[in-house]
Amino acid sequence: MAQQTPVRPLGATGDGAMIDEDWEALRFRVHRSAYRDPEVFRTEIDRIWNHTWLYLGHETEIPKAGDFKTRTLGGRPLIFCRDAGGEVRAFFNACTHRGTVLCRHSEGNTKFFQCFYHAWAFSNSGELAALPGDDAYPDDPAFRASMALRQVPRLQIHEGFVFVAFDADVPDLLTHLGPAAHYMSLTAKIGEHGMTTLPGVQLYSVKGNWKLAVENAMDGYHFAPTHNTFVGYLRETGFAVTDDDQYAYDLGGGHGLLVLTGHNGRIGMVWEPRFGDEEKTRTVAKRRELEARLGPELAAEVADASRILFVFPNLLLFDLEALTIRQLEPVAADRTDVRAWQFVEVGEPESVRALRIKTMVSFVGPGGLATPDDIEAYEAVQRGITATADSADPAHDWSDMSRGMANEKQGNQGRSIDEGAMRSFWRRWAEKVGAGTSVAGDPPAGTPAAGPATGGAGK
Ligand code: FES
Ligand SMILES: [Fe+2]
Repeated sequence: MAQQTPVRPLGATGDGAMIDEDWEALRFRVHRSAYRDPEVFRTEIDRIWNHTWLYLGHETEIPKAGDFKTRTLGGRPLIFCRDAGGEVRAFFNACTHRGTVLCRHSEGNTKFFQCFYHAWAFSNSGELAALPGDDAYPDDPAFRASMALRQVPRLQIHEGFVFVAFDADVPDLLTHLGPAAHYMSLTAKIGEHGMTTLPGVQLYSVKGNWKLAVENAMDGYHFAPTHNTFVGYLRETGFAVTDDDQYAYDLGGGHGLLVLTGHNGRIGMVWEPRFGDEEKTRTVAKRRELEARLGPELAAEVADASRILFVFPNLLLFDLEALTIRQLEPVAADRTDVRAWQFVEVGEPESVRALRIKTMVSFVGPGGLATPDDIEAYEAVQRGITATADSADPAHDWSDMSRGMANEKQGNQGRSIDEGAMRSFWRRWAEKVGAGTSVAGDPPAGTPAAGPATGGAGK
């Protein structure tokens, strides 16, 4: 991207930078207007969401010809559908006649999308199929062709994960994903017969900036204090969580990865007592199946550790407990819509499916033992940072993310309980929005690892 004009001269670091990074003082801080300022929000939509690959949905959400879902990305209403020929498509959900929202259902199956306003009808591959009183329009096929539904300029699929871009000139999806593509593939390899999303979506709205949700997912530091009820519950069931040997990786491009070996169990992969004896037997058999299909090394990488993967800017894959796909949609500087789907093995027994769903809702579901804690954390930050806005002392209006910099400076792999994954995200964010990073001192030499050197062990 070309050099961007700074969002606004904040003056807090003397050069208008919103990120202040100092390798002598071992300080990394983010100016709080980044979460609060409507102008920053508009700039993010313009410079990130309008020019980057965005996660739209999984192709298993629309398995049959004619299936569709509607959703909004970067504030733009979209139709995500499978056309009559089986091709996955994304259209702007706006009638080409006068711009009415064309499809007002959240999901369904249809051959045609018909606008309620003047009844123009479009096929599920976008052609204008019918318009009442067409004798009043030019008798010219070019006219109808010009009124076809507007497709989103780019759509590419990686392992069933469908991404779109509103800018035709973005680099290919795999270039954008970089090493993150591999971790998405690991998740896709879990099921012997493939993976699928379950019908239904968890949709909730958070009174907080979207970047707080990213930080929270990349933040192992908060786990024990924020989720102490859940940690206590695990302890009561005979399972001890640990923060030892758990690492965070900068995957480049703003993408981040936590690899968690001591977090807690995962259905079919890492057994713990609350899953019950039947699941214990199945976990052993599942490991054999993975090793036979993928070889021991890849099987270990798939199975041994929980992972949280962030794909910049709007996708989170929680491969822990069960498997959750989470999508972030920024609505305003202080409002974010979150959608979450369960991602499951095709053909798994009903009892396993039931256990998976129970496990998922007990932790990362919006009524579980963890996600409400996290939402309270985002919202409490959003409320708290109003306190120091335009403070008499500008030095007070910054949030600190320096944990682990001394370790990082020595060239060691960052731990999941440090804040290195957040720092990587914020650097990329600042670069994309033109918010500026003020860097003092010498950053660590060498390129950080783009993931664990060997399968799942974390280091
Ligand atoms: S706006 Fe859709 S048919 Fe007129
Ligand atoms: Fe959390």
